[in-house]
Amino acid sequence: MGGIMYRTENLNKSYADGDGVCYALKDVNLDISKGQMVAIVGESGSGKSTLLNILGAIDSATDGKVIANGKNIAGLSEEQLSTYRSKTVGFVFQAFHIIDCYTVYDNIELPLIINKVPGSQRDDMIRKAVARVGLDDKLRTKCNKLSGGEKQRVAIARALVHSPDVILADEPCGNLDSRNSESIMELLRGLVDEDTLVVMVTHSKTDARLCDRIITLSDGMVVSDEIIR
Ligand SMILES: Nc1ncnc2c1ncn2[C@@H]1O[C@H](COP(=O)(O)OP(=O)(O)OP(=O)(O)O)[C@@H](O)[C@H]1O
Ligand SMILES: [Mg+2]
Repeated sequence: MGGIMYRTENLNKSYADGDGVCYALKDVNLDISKGQMVAIVGESGSGKSTLLNILGAIDSATDGKVIANGKNIAGLSEEQLSTYRSKTVGFVFQAFHIIDCYTVYDNIELPLIINKVPGSQRDDMIRKAVARVGLDDKLRTKCNKLSGGEKQRVAIARALVHSPDVILADEPCGNLDSRNSESIMELLRGLVDEDTLVVMVTHSKTDARLCDRIITLSDGMVVSDEIIR
């Protein structure tokens, strides 16, 4: 437990907007500890996905720093960046990004193949991840036959299959009913109990209250930072 996973220093993300600039993030300074569950909340367009994407190094800041595990992300080589994205971080996207015509098994295997995990290790990793999200009986089911909640579980299994230090989840319960949301939140909490850092974007007050900390963004700025437990 403990230790800082992320430190952001004067993080800015801006876009040209006509003659001026529009800030998606403005002077964001945060320390985020390991082994916590952190909610990022705020109105639509407040910069939540932008922040998550920059933490996951799938987007870059206009200026300012993101220090992940003591290292400035901007200073990493392409190879180090790709290791960071594939080993340290697991991403759950706002719209799942599940391949519908693939089975549950194949969807989860894909990142392992891309990251050249040997075939002999993959099967065991996939089965563990699928058991973790409670989809054992759907291993060979095509994802177009799954419900929204089940697809979200596949997305989470795919994010956790390589046991990352950090899960970055963009509205993991966004399209789910309250029962499914609850079980996804329990699943994420279980990972936190094993010392994974979970940073999740949510629109749900209920889900945010289940986290350890709530960071509120408004117009790209941190306007409230509440430690709950
Ligand atoms: N590629 C882009 N070009 C210009 N502006 C962008 C781009 N991407 C995002 N923005 C702007 O940055 C701001 C923050 O966007 P972001 O996607 O981070 O919001 P969000 O808080 O995740 O919203 P939502 O809750 O709707 O998902 C918005 O005003 C958006 O219009
Ligand atoms: Mg978003």
